[in-house]
Formats: sequence, structure tokens, C-alpha cells
Amino acid sequence: MISPIEYKAKKLYILDQTLLPSEERYIELKCKEDVWEAIHSLRVRGAPAIGVAAAFGFLVSLRAELKTLSFSVSVLEYLNLSKKIGDYLISSRPTAVNLEWAIKRMQRRQETEFEGIERDYRLCIVALSELETALTEEAQAIMDEDIASCKAMGEYGLSLLDKNMGILTHCNAGTIATAMYGTCLAPLYLGHERGYDFKVFADETRPLLQGARLTAWELDKAGIDVTLICDNMASIVMKNGWIDAVVVGCDRLAANGDGANKIGTSGVAILAKEYGIPFYMFVPTSTIDLETETGEDIQIELRNGDEIYKMWYEKDMAPKGIKTYNPSFDVTRAEYITAIVTEKGIVRPPYKENLIRLMRK
Ligand code: MRU
Repeated sequence: MISPIEYKAKKLYILDQTLLPSEERYIELKCKEDVWEAIHSLRVRGAPAIGVAAAFGFLVSLRAELKTLSFSVSVLEYLNLSKKIGDYLISSRPTAVNLEWAIKRMQRRQETEFEGIERDYRLCIVALSELETALTEEAQAIMDEDIASCKAMGEYGLSLLDKNMGILTHCNAGTIATAMYGTCLAPLYLGHERGYDFKVFADETRPLLQGARLTAWELDKAGIDVTLICDNMASIVMKNGWIDAVVVGCDRLAANGDGANKIGTSGVAILAKEYGIPFYMFVPTSTIDLETETGEDIQIELRNGDEIYKMWYEKDMAPKGIKTYNPSFDVTRAEYITAIVTEKGIVRPPYKENLIRLMRK
């Protein structure tokens, strides 16, 4: 199973997802600018994968900055530098909560390493190397926990699906959107291993085509039956009776159960309700943000309009100077979500109470 992130011999590599499906190439991210650009331009993407890349990215960025300072810093200078790098990396994309969550977790680990040490104490090379070991452990833990969480979501998700079901998915919440296995595609991999015969329909997911370039690619590679459709064909495949369940990922789930995911997800959920098809959102607890009350409070990333009419075409597919609106995500209201699948279990309405209970587990 492919993992989009590798950390080997103190070097961070990511699978450049902008090159898929024609080329499978890992690139090294060496400094904070590399990490920012890779997240911003979706070379690494998908909420959990962004979190893992940000954790290791924070580590390599700190190391690169310290090198330029010849490693000579006090605790206070170190913490200021860490804040600057953290804020910069967080600014690369606003919607997926995993980005901020991972950076904050790395910074908390630092704080515990500095407990009881004066802020003007100058860090020697040994202290810095111990700190680096601690941060490497933390980033690795974030990655390992994500893998375990995807496996658990796979089992819970599979308990909701039958052997020969038709499944519709939107965007890509597969192995390359996480550390490994995926969130909503994890049950499909697991079922495939156990002899299930799913028929998957992948929405192409305009404008960045995560469904066509990534989901169709990874499911096909794994030998899972997948049919690519344009986004506006979801209704007809549902009407034809070919879809028994919809599975999608999530970038930020608010406390009331509203979930932001790739643009177009809310439309699919509304259609699924109309056709009486269950709609399952797969959400690791690292993507649950109880601080955000409702979907209305989630910041939706706006991206460059070129992605709509230029990026994938030989010629511009719209008149020059046309106005564009390119929100990268939308919010599916809780009432359209049949169940939320997490690594700690399946949550059903009422979400507000049940999510609090889940997060206390
Ligand atoms: O813009 P992207 O490709 O990062 O958007 C990804 C999604 O919307 C995914 O569905 C979500 O992050 C969940 S990934 C397990």
C-alpha cells in the first residue's frame, strides 16, 4: 500500500500528487518554503496527509532555519523561531484542521522538553539534538497513529457495507490522502482483501480532479472495480439504482456534526438523501474540531480561478478575463450525514452530544 510521505535519514519526501496519474515521483522538501508550497499547491493533500507532512515539515524547516543561525540560540529565540515557522506553515491552507492540529502538537512537545529551563538558557548542540529526537518521535507518532486510525476506520466502515454494494465517492480520501490506507477508501481496501466485490463510482471532482487523477488511479491499481463519472452524473447513477452507499472524507468537522469536505460533497449528500441512500462521512478524531461550533464558522479556502478553466487544458476553456469563483470546499450539514465513522467508533445523531462523548473516550 502506498504512503505519500516518507521520512528517511532525516530527509522528508512526499509523493508529488500533482504529477499523478502519469508519473509517480517522490520529491524532497528541505525547508519551510518547500513545505508551504507543497501543501499549498496540493503536491501533498488530504487532511490527514497534510497533518503528517506538516509535522515532519515543521521538523525539517526548524533544522534548516537553525543551520542558517549556526545553531546558536537561547530557549526564547528557539521558541520564537518555532512560532514563526508554525504560523507560516499553517498559512498554507486554511480549511483542513489537521494542519494546525499537527503543528500545535509538535509545539506542545517542544514545550514539555523545555519544562523547568530558563528562557535565556543557550541551547548547546547536544540539547538541540535531544530536542530533534523528541520532535522526530512526535512526528512519527502522528504518522503511526494516523495509520492505525485509518485501519480502525476501515473496520468500522466495512461493518456498514455489504459484499456487492455500489459505492459512490467524491474527491480522494484514499491511501495517498493519509499516512496509509485512507479514511473512506480504507473499508474498500479491506473488503477487497476479504473477497468483497464492490462497484465503486468515482466523481471526477472538478476543478482539481482528485477523483479522476487520484481515486480512479489508486483503486484501479489495487484491482478494485472503479468507474469514473463526471460530477454532474451522480444523480443518474443513483437513479439507476447503482449506488447503495456514499462514502466521503472530511477536512474539518464542527461540533454540531456539520462537515467541510471537497467542493461538491454537499450536493452529493443532498442527492443521496433524495434517493434514500446512506451518506457516510469518515472523520478521524484529528479532523474533529469541537472549538468550531457549526459549519458556518469554518473558513472555506478560495483558490485561483485558473484551476477551473486553464490548468488541465491545452487551451483556455473560458473567455479571457472571465470572472471566476473557486471555493475549494463546502459544508455538508449534519442532517444529511447518516453516520460519522471515526477510529473510535461510529457516531450517529444527535451529533452534538455524541461527538462530545466520543472525544472523551
Ligand atoms: O483539496 P484536497 O485535495 O486536499 O481535499 C481533500 C479532501 O477534501 C478530502 O476528502 C479530505 O481531506 C479527507 S482526506 C482523508
